[in-house]
Amino acid sequence: MDKMWAGRFHKALDSTADDFNSSIHFDSRMYKEDISGSVVHAMMLARQGIITEDEKDKIVSGLTSILEDIESGKLGIDMAAEDIHMFVESELTKRIGDAGKKLHTARSRNDQVALDIRMYLLSECEEIGGLIKKLLGAIRDIASEHKNDIMPGYTHLQRAQPITFAHHVLAYGMMFSRDLDRIKDAVKRMLASCPIGSCALAGTTYNTDRAFEAERLGFTGISLNSIDGVSDRDFCVELLDAFALIMMHLSRFSEEIVLWSSWEFKFIELDDSYTTGSSIMPQKKNPDMAELVRGKTGRVYGDLMALLTTLKGLPLAYNKDMQEDKEAVFDAVDTVKKCLEVFIPMIATMKVLPDNMRLAAGKGFINATDLADYLVKKGMPFRTAYKKVGEIVAYCIENGLILENMPLEKYKEFDSAFDADLYNEISLDTCVSKRISAGGTGPDSVEAQIRYITELLND
Ligand code: ARG
Repeated sequence: MDKMWAGRFHKALDSTADDFNSSIHFDSRMYKEDISGSVVHAMMLARQGIITEDEKDKIVSGLTSILEDIESGKLGIDMAAEDIHMFVESELTKRIGDAGKKLHTARSRNDQVALDIRMYLLSECEEIGGLIKKLLGAIRDIASEHKNDIMPGYTHLQRAQPITFAHHVLAYGMMFSRDLDRIKDAVKRMLASCPIGSCALAGTTYNTDRAFEAERLGFTGISLNSIDGVSDRDFCVELLDAFALIMMHLSRFSEEIVLWSSWEFKFIELDDSYTTGSSIMPQKKNPDMAELVRGKTGRVYGDLMALLTTLKGLPLAYNKDMQEDKEAVFDAVDTVKKCLEVFIPMIATMKVLPDNMRLAAGKGFINATDLADYLVKKGMPFRTAYKKVGEIVAYCIENGLILENMPLEKYKEFDSAFDADLYNEISLDTCVSKRISAGGTGPDSVEAQIRYITELLND
């Protein structure tokens, strides 16, 4: 394909250099955004009298036919083109002749690509946001089903205090609700500065109407500085950061799924359709999907780091380095979507094993804090009660007892404040249902969390 810019050169670009320079292999996925941006650009040029109505009509119908033909498979994207912007423009000129050569008036590929990637991210963010909502729905449903199922809560991966499974999974619900918010927030900022009309870097001598273009393309404002308009990739960084956090949350959840599905825990069993076998060990049922989600988290962190590193030394305005933004952005988008698409049905179909969770919670001493609180409610200062319960725990361990089965007479030897009501106070159900503080594992708080997610989903 002849280069549009060939006029200034005496020799053709070396073919290896041409290949190295070209971005069509990856930016071709933005064909739709590129075409819709161009349609609005042509409309603006005609409104402002920069091209005629007739030229605009030719351009718009030419672009529309290109879009239809790409979508139907009739037109293949020519991988010899330098990038998607060049491809669309040359195909247009092929179809409509001279009018096509007017489309690039008062714009540059620099503002064009800055526009395209914003529009691409807008539609991907809608999709990713929809997937996060689906995930929140799945978490809400699991929580609603397991409001009364008690499991050990952990710190340092040591049994700490009893909680409900609902409360545990809702913790992830809160994290993903913030992820959703982060995407919305970054998109809001991205849409506030439509770059088109910034041209190469300095604006243009034509009497353009940037506000018209921005509004037509769904933006809320225009970039107020043309150099910033073409140089800014903050929105890519912000969104990749939001995606990295989604992955971090998915990865922590995956880690727990891997643990819970092991024979050592057996708190859940993953559905056959989301597990794999071994090529040698006939008994194996491996949580590969959860492991892969955990593993792919590194990729998305890498994409974020690659982008930040690409941008850090760039002088203003556009530099070709910026072409590297797309592969990082595309890979992060693809990875997050793929991970969510498999993670959601994986957790929605997993079998929760509440009996095993309860058994693990009942193995002793998870209610030690509650025993100390019992003494506190009888008038003992917390630090004194805490020390006394520590001594009781040590005594139980030495004598093969747990708090639930140590006889009352023995309790009374430790302190006369102990009474028969202590056993009810330290039962797992009481420990959970009496944790009435806001945000705790108690039933009112769990209901409030479920309501919060439901309202967010109805929003
Ligand atoms: N393919 C280029 C990119 O993605 C488009 C912009 C090219 N601009 C330029 N001045 N060479 O960055």
